[in-house]
Amino acid sequence: MSLQARMTTKKPVTPEQVEFYQTNGFVQVDNILTSEELAELREITDELMSMDNDTLHHKPDRQSLYFKVLNQRVNVWRDHARYGKYSFHPRLAEAARLLLKTDAVRFFHHHALIKNPQDSKPTAWHQDFPSWPIKESGAMSIWIALDDVDEHNGCMMFVPGSHKVGKLKPHDLTEHIDLEDFAKGTDAEKRNPVICRMKAGSCTFHDGLTFHYAHANNTDRPRRALAIIYYQDGAAYDGKAHLVTDGYNHPIGEPLAGVLHPILARQPLAR
Ligand code: SIN
Ligand code: NI
Repeated sequence: MSLQARMTTKKPVTPEQVEFYQTNGFVQVDNILTSEELAELREITDELMSMDNDTLHHKPDRQSLYFKVLNQRVNVWRDHARYGKYSFHPRLAEAARLLLKTDAVRFFHHHALIKNPQDSKPTAWHQDFPSWPIKESGAMSIWIALDDVDEHNGCMMFVPGSHKVGKLKPHDLTEHIDLEDFAKGTDAEKRNPVICRMKAGSCTFHDGLTFHYAHANNTDRPRRALAIIYYQDGAAYDGKAHLVTDGYNHPIGEPLAGVLHPILARQPLAR
């Protein structure tokens, strides 16, 4: 479906995409951004990456192995106000809400995810959910490509249906075990991963339990992406240590909410 058609119907994803997501634990949505939005996001991402501040960000040592996997900045709307338009974008959040088939979604956090050129390493197979301090599964990410992506510069791969095999141990993104090892003993062991090559301005959504991987960037230009993490309203805080919730005095087992976790999309009231 074209962007124009999606704007007209006001639904950012189709019923087929919702069913695909529910079955496979990921879905690719082409042209989720307009060309103006893509241009602005590229501009502010470049501004952001040239800034040298350190508040609340995962800012790894430039010599570390992690930095070869990802140059990652977390919750950057707090440094660059124009980023907020995208971190809290209602169309992106509404797409997430529809895919989750839930009444309301909240913002957990977001990352600018850059794979630097030269000596780049792949993002190892992993699930995201085990590292989030959220009790109920369902939390998910949108991953928006700000550059055309394929297996030469760091596109993503997903194992279809792997969101149904349960929560594995958190896994270090620099620890390069292959899929066979990662999936060993799970129902996903024999499934073939799907490579998501995309044009800039397109995106994937993936469930926090879906096994995924990103290729190394073997080109001479950065691979720029934006990920935003959403969760269903009412999901509880489980107390796990996490960069974003560090310092929260939030009761364990109570719904994770508060000023940094606004509801971004809500089911319209029936008339
Ligand atoms: C990446 O951008 O390389 C990985 C993103 C993810 O693991 O969700
Ligand atoms: Ni991930």
